[in-house]
Amino acid sequence: LSNGLAVTPPMGWNDWNAFGCNVSEALVEQTAQYMVTSGMKAAGYEYVNIDDCWMTSSRDASGNLVADPAKFPDGMKAVADYVHSLGLKFGLYEEAGTATCAGFPGSLGHETQDANLFASWGVDYLKYDNCNGGSEPTQQRYDAMRDALAATGRPILFALCEWGADSVWTWGAQTGNMWRTTSDISPNFGSMLNNFHSNVALAQYAGPGGWNDPDMLEVGNGMSATEDQSEFSLWAQMAAPLVSGTDLRNASAATMAIYLNKDVIAVDQDPLGKQGTEVSSSGGLDVLAKPLSNGDVSVVLFNENTTAATISTTAAAVGLPSASSYTLNDLWAHTSTTSSSSTFSASVPAHGVVMYRVTAKGATSASPSPSVSASASV
Ligand code: GLA
Repeated sequence: LSNGLAVTPPMGWNDWNAFGCNVSEALVEQTAQYMVTSGMKAAGYEYVNIDDCWMTSSRDASGNLVADPAKFPDGMKAVADYVHSLGLKFGLYEEAGTATCAGFPGSLGHETQDANLFASWGVDYLKYDNCNGGSEPTQQRYDAMRDALAATGRPILFALCEWGADSVWTWGAQTGNMWRTTSDISPNFGSMLNNFHSNVALAQYAGPGGWNDPDMLEVGNGMSATEDQSEFSLWAQMAAPLVSGTDLRNASAATMAIYLNKDVIAVDQDPLGKQGTEVSSSGGLDVLAKPLSNGDVSVVLFNENTTAATISTTAAAVGLPSASSYTLNDLWAHTSTTSSSSTFSASVPAHGVVMYRVTAKGATSASPSPSVSASASV
């Protein structure tokens, strides 16, 4: 969406994955504070997002949505003001139908009134769900809120949460800044893998202002550290929004080290804005390549299987030129090796990744296009 927002994939936090309906002012404010003190804000995490269940079960006498006074005793504007006082941005959730997924009032038919209310509270990001849409076409219902948000004059990032309905990737870039490509993620490797497979094939639709969204990050919510690292790497390689869904206040040092890996974040946030593609995939061993703005290529070797395996690729396959040498920066081991070999190979643990940022030195040919995988499919 050309509203000047999401020039790189949005980064932030959302309460849903870890807390469901147990959201509160204290949780949101403590998390925002921790995002500053932990270094997340400095690393690029910006949006503090409240999901479903923040409101009362009916509108007030004027038809306005009301923040649940038990959960948000000071009201939504106070929470937004607090988040803004920390230099962060504030996100809220609504629905493009008659009721949210948890049964609270939806915005269908109230788009202008709700958009105006959100703008008056200081909302910077709206996640817009699709549980109870009825017969009106999805795109039409989403466009109505897009236009209502634009009419407020406040820049509000518009996140479409339609779970990939109606091939949203074909129209998402006109309507929103990101769009869900899958059903809800859960904190296990199989769910993460499904969302990865669906999302990775949609690279052509993503770019500055509009991103494919394979759902929020489950890092810290119960997968192994290796699997958490894989999710974070794959999401960055796919230029996906990096929205943490864990209880950051109680996150382990290992979890925080993943969220704060600046080199992996830089791949996600690279200004070229290209979603990485699968250049080969065979027997659960995948090679992904993402071209970067300075000519480097980010390469992820991903082992979907339950035993360690060696995964190999070549400079030509990932879109690098012939060169006298290649420097491989390992973005998790934080080591760097330079060699004249144009074959890149590593032993990759079960369910794990090896992620290299590769620089070609002394190029002797132009960069080829990365090869397109015959096996990539939605
Ligand atoms: C849907 C969305 C989730 C979350 C819930 C809230 O399932 O996909 O991300 O917002 O609704 O009810």
